[in-house]
Amino acid sequence: MRSLTKRLGDVIPLPALVVPEPAVTFTITPEALSRAGEPDNAEVRVELTDADGLGAEGYRLEITAAGVTLRAAEPAGVFWGVQTLRQLAAGDGVLPGGVIEDRPRFAYRAAMIDLARHFFTVDEIKAHLDLLVGFKINHLHLHLTDDQGWRLEIPGWPRLTEVGGGPGTGCDGAGPGFLTLADYAEVVAYAADRFVTVVPEIDMPGHVNAALVAYPELTADGQPVAPRVDAEVGYSSLVAGKEETYAFVEAVLKTVADATPGPYLHIGGDECLNTSPEDYRAFLSRVLPLPGKYGKRAIGWHEIAAADLPEGTVVQYWRPEEQDANVNAAASAGRAVIMSPADRTYLDMKYDADTPLGLDWAGLVPVRRAYDWDPAARLPGVTEEALLGVAAPLWSETLRSVADVQFLTFPRLPAVAEVGWSRQDARDWESFRERVALFGPRWAAAGVAYFRAPEIDWPAN
Ligand code: ACM
Repeated sequence: MRSLTKRLGDVIPLPALVVPEPAVTFTITPEALSRAGEPDNAEVRVELTDADGLGAEGYRLEITAAGVTLRAAEPAGVFWGVQTLRQLAAGDGVLPGGVIEDRPRFAYRAAMIDLARHFFTVDEIKAHLDLLVGFKINHLHLHLTDDQGWRLEIPGWPRLTEVGGGPGTGCDGAGPGFLTLADYAEVVAYAADRFVTVVPEIDMPGHVNAALVAYPELTADGQPVAPRVDAEVGYSSLVAGKEETYAFVEAVLKTVADATPGPYLHIGGDECLNTSPEDYRAFLSRVLPLPGKYGKRAIGWHEIAAADLPEGTVVQYWRPEEQDANVNAAASAGRAVIMSPADRTYLDMKYDADTPLGLDWAGLVPVRRAYDWDPAARLPGVTEEALLGVAAPLWSETLRSVADVQFLTFPRLPAVAEVGWSRQDARDWESFRERVALFGPRWAAAGVAYFRAPEIDWPAN
């Protein structure tokens, strides 16, 4: 372990440019940093100006013996600059002197949480978000519906949440609950205050058993199906040849679009093993235009690349395989891609064979695996220009508590956050390993149940 003298570059994600002034420090008071947004005060002077050409999220920090100057073109850049200051000030408030100029590699840097397999409350989601924004995550993807539960109120379709969010829902029946539209609005507003865009996902045409249980008229023969709380996938499907399907889908997508100020609406599309390829394409030909009709941009898991993709559709790659011809073709046709390969970014994969939580179908994902990869080199044909960004999904089949969420999220989420924000040629595992170690005592002090990964030389807490 190296000495704990603070260094200006000890930030995650690593900033684009760090010019230390080693002889200089400034000690900031907690009050000067206490506001989440823009602390314009005697210690931190905030200037909104695009003079530095740092873009929508970039910022420039200058730390001198007299105080801090934080410049950005947009309020989001100020907010990210404050996150950097917070990391540097951790502990004693002493800021190392010098200049940081910073801007993200990718515009889309997401974390996903699966509320369907286990529900988490508004307060739990907010607390989780507070930890994510420290690492400059700017999209929160909410997986709201699946076979085991339906977690968002849809007016006119009350049984979705009465049944699909009721007692006994979630994996092992252990994760009941749902968001009312007022709850959802509260999450969206809380996120927006932190420059985070909520990306709602309604998974279809597969992963819909909870909806079929609630409304048997959506099944192929109109007969009821049994609720399921196991972790199997690929058995349920909406019926492509039934008009009831599209009335339901449109009602749901319109509600979600109206409740969501952000530009994206995720329609799932993954693992439709019980939908024929013809039905899958027929279904998507009617559903993929709906987000556009309601002013949104469709995102789907990358299986949707088997269908014709309307302009603006975003493809989210999630499999561990090293190539995908459909995704390659979609990127070549100008469709944007989000990278979340399961063998790198799935926070629910076990760290090692002894990890008590999580799954291992995509292999084990120790911290270095989450860190040491280049999204622009992951799939042939999907280059930097095609990438909207990077996402770290957390599926909740094995999760039962906030501590479980934190255990799988930290320290891997910071690794993926750096993949999404920092320049590829500046990233280095040994450097990340040293920097992430500094967060151990901070997480411990904040009661965050992080995993003390043996790859990291954690200081004593
Ligand atoms: C997925 O993991 N089925 C997107």
